[in-house]
Amino acid sequence: MLSEKAKKEIEAAMQKYPNKRSAVMDALRIAQQDGGGHLEKPDMEEIGRMLDMRLVEVNAAAAFYTMYKINKPIGKYHIQVCRNISCSLLGAEHLIKHMEKALNVKTGETTSDKKFTLSTVECLGSCGTAPMMQINDDFHENLTEQKIDELLRKLE
Ligand code: FES
Repeated sequence: MLSEKAKKEIEAAMQKYPNKRSAVMDALRIAQQDGGGHLEKPDMEEIGRMLDMRLVEVNAAAAFYTMYKINKPIGKYHIQVCRNISCSLLGAEHLIKHMEKALNVKTGETTSDKKFTLSTVECLGSCGTAPMMQINDDFHENLTEQKIDELLRKLE
């Protein structure tokens, strides 16, 4: 269930748009943060009630974008590695394998201490600084194995 704080944030987000439904992306983001990094059915039902949307419509919006995690708890740090063309050409696949080995997980899994979840995503719009990844809200660009090792060490 959404907290009172999250409901107030969603109500404030609704004021930014000409109709309630247009706030669905903001509402999902707020609910996901409120839920500790993932969305559950009661959260989406509540969003539907607030925005006058059916659950299936809210769920469709959430399922379309990789940034929303439905019914899937993620680690404290969500690592999303771009594997689209620019990043792939500059070694994304190699870096993904490096991280799988360093974290001892496969892509899509969370470390046993619940600290890191490793995912791959399509283009994050930072092709000029490929290869790149996003960890929670921050971009990390021009990646190398050394940069990744340093980053993971800092987050440990
Ligand atoms: S291809 Fe990776 S950011 Fe665009």
